Amino acid sequence: MKLYEGSKILVTGALGQIGTDLTEALRKKYGQNNVIATDIRTIENHPSVSDGIFQNLDIMETQKLIEICRNNDIGIIYHLAALLSAVGEKNPEKCRKINIDGTISILEAARLCSLRVFAPSSIAVFGPDCPSHASQSSPLNPTTVYGQTKVIGEKLAREYWEIHGVDTRGIRYPGLISYKSPPGGGTTDYAVEIFHSAINHGQYEFFVEPNTRLPMLYMDDAIRATLSLMDSPSESLGIFRSGFNVSGITFTAQELASKIEERIEGFKYSFVPDHRQKIADSWPDSIDDSISRKEWKWSPQFDLDSIIDAMFEGIENT
Ligand code: NAD
Ligand code: SER
Repeated sequence: MKLYEGSKILVTGALGQIGTDLTEALRKKYGQNNVIATDIRTIENHPSVSDGIFQNLDIMETQKLIEICRNNDIGIIYHLAALLSAVGEKNPEKCRKINIDGTISILEAARLCSLRVFAPSSIAVFGPDCPSHASQSSPLNPTTVYGQTKVIGEKLAREYWEIHGVDTRGIRYPGLISYKSPPGGGTTDYAVEIFHSAINHGQYEFFVEPNTRLPMLYMDDAIRATLSLMDSPSESLGIFRSGFNVSGITFTAQELASKIEERIEGFKYSFVPDHRQKIADSWPDSIDDSISRKEWKWSPQFDLDSIIDAMFEGIENT
């Protein structure tokens, strides 16, 4: 599979939950030496990412970023470096700085070096005035700082496309479920933590209420969606190119606990909601992704049972 003629890929935030899986998938698809993984953190304890090229990079260092792009013939940036919702609400200044200024840094490098950019958005762009089933054009009035940075990120990406011709694309990921790398401090982290805690300790304490329902997606579907969006012809993508709704499944915390209880005898769980409950309550229950299905032929493959199978297999064999 060919990318741009003679060009390579740079991944920011490559040591995070998505970066760990996406870097592996990109290297498999385009070749080990054609993907440069970067992160502000050091590579120790990340064996899968350290299989290929890695450089330390703080996305705020725009000049260094431009140099890396020019010296390595980069053609595409997958920009994953960010602060997620729960840590972002605890440190709003830092969240704005990394998520907004950091995205501008990436977009500027893309403009100056003629790069394509994938910059993910989130279901956090929606707020309490959104219907429980969010459509592509539901209002974007988030109450979290994280959500606000994601709305601005979508707008910036669209402006760089419309004004500067930078080919920017993005997906409003739901909560992502995966086992290779721990989640980075989001509100949907319970849907990952429960598997590790249940399998290793036979118990889990949810930080949300039992009836909390949020949209979720298995990581393999998220990676397939990402690669498929980036492979789509630019002319097939309409005005939502910087923030496509994508849907996988939706379940309550109780439904997830009950499914896991069926697999682990004596599994004990409880619900002790904390500050993240308010964030969860401000997001929709489910997502309408008909535009993505139409414009770039998206459809998910994993339902709740197949996600549970994959998580058990992944954790037990790691
Ligand atoms: P994560 O927190 O797991 O990883 C983010 C990575 O960015 C970390 O490795 C961190 O070290 C790095 N980073 C932070 N500040 C940096 C900086 N200044 N310079 C360079 N690197 C820096 O996040 P993730 O879950 O992999 O999310 C990736 C993207 O996807 C984010 O934009 C996030 O908002 C979005 N997203 C994630 C989810 C999800 O459920 N994981 C859902 C919706 C959207
Ligand atoms: N999973 C992410 C979070 O909870 C959504 O963007 O922050």
